[in-house]
Amino acid sequence: MVTAISRYGPRVIPNTMQVIEEVDARGQLIEGPHIEAFEAAFAERVGGRRAIATSYGRTAFFYILEAFGFPPGGEIIFPALTFWVMPEMARQAGLTPVFADVDPVTFNVTASAIERAMTPKTVAVVPTHLWGLPCDMNEIAAVAARHGLVVIEDCAHALGATYDGSPVGTFGDAAIFSLQTFKPLNAYGGGVAVVRDHNVAQRVAARASQQPAPGIDRVKHRLWHGRVMRLATRPDIFRWTLFPVMYACTRLHWSIDMYFWEKIRPLNPMPEDYGERFSNVQAAIALEGLGKLDAWTARRQLHARRMNVLLDEVPGIRVPSVPPRRTHVYYQYCAYVPSRDAVVEACLHRGIDLETLHVDVCTDLELFGPARDAAPGARHTTATVQIPIYESLSDEQLECVAGAVRDAVLALRPQPAAAVSEPS
Ligand SMILES: Cc1ncc(COP(=O)(O)O)c(C=O)c1O
Repeated sequence: MVTAISRYGPRVIPNTMQVIEEVDARGQLIEGPHIEAFEAAFAERVGGRRAIATSYGRTAFFYILEAFGFPPGGEIIFPALTFWVMPEMARQAGLTPVFADVDPVTFNVTASAIERAMTPKTVAVVPTHLWGLPCDMNEIAAVAARHGLVVIEDCAHALGATYDGSPVGTFGDAAIFSLQTFKPLNAYGGGVAVVRDHNVAQRVAARASQQPAPGIDRVKHRLWHGRVMRLATRPDIFRWTLFPVMYACTRLHWSIDMYFWEKIRPLNPMPEDYGERFSNVQAAIALEGLGKLDAWTARRQLHARRMNVLLDEVPGIRVPSVPPRRTHVYYQYCAYVPSRDAVVEACLHRGIDLETLHVDVCTDLELFGPARDAAPGARHTTATVQIPIYESLSDEQLECVAGAVRDAVLALRPQPAAAVSEPS
């Protein structure tokens, strides 16, 4: 019988139902004391800076941009490889996104690329700690300081990662985190804004608290949806539900990946649920999750080390590398393989579902203007796969994943290893 392993496995606190029932019994699904408690616990993790819970990570970002009061038309630098929603939110805040290339080895934007993308109109930069690996923050902070730029860290993938021993989210003027179902801290949606300056933090907090409370049905639906995702990605259920559909699609040469992601479009008007407050029940779940975060991270790091050993010697595969002084939390374990699509298809036929690119090469998106050849590093990363290593996988399942990837690559005709240069 084929084993089937989904590309994502959410982090779930074992007492989820109990937490929901207790909060519900007190009539505190929407409003209650857990929001403040969660914000305080989160603030403690990011060096005591103010933490403000929001409906999404992207909304946290929008409020931060508003709170800084940048001049309209000011330019804000993003990595060319990022989730399209972030530069689009900047556009909706009246700014012009400009893209800087990434290092194809670390997948992160570099200080030198930021410097090349700067103009006299540049007001801010958004280092994104992609896949859970911190950017080189000393270098980026130095460039930003030299040119008087505001630094807003995108930590959506990287809660728990460190650079020079300090957690991400503590290097810039502000930072955002995401609490979506598959992110390092799962609250079935939500985000956190972390802000250094007291007055800017006050403005973000005021904006977040002015939003209407979410309807009870919407919150219940969110929790239900999270439960469905949780179940649908469990290997014993995935095998009989999503997996056969995906398998049939590869036989018919269709990809259903596009249905997993939000349609790329102008966010004007913004969807209604962006402008809501974070709910108390999600805060209660997130608070419990925070207590488990380090153990989850440690297990995922263990899995990454094991995957490195299993794949490192396979010709043509390049496993993720971690530069000195950084810890990687492996939101995604992203590896270069030869003939990506052939490898994805061969793995799916063995029951292993690989993610390809869950962020975007933004310089190639029409949303941000005509395609440019401006980011060869970002484009190069389309030769990667994201291999499941999440903590709920057993050792045996991990070996199964590695075996499928290895065999898929070895079955290809000899290919040169993906050529990527070392970070400077
Ligand atoms: C790199 C990156 N930044 C920001 C976000 C936005 O987070 P949210 O979905 O909570 O708005 C995401 C979401 O996937 C992301 O991948």
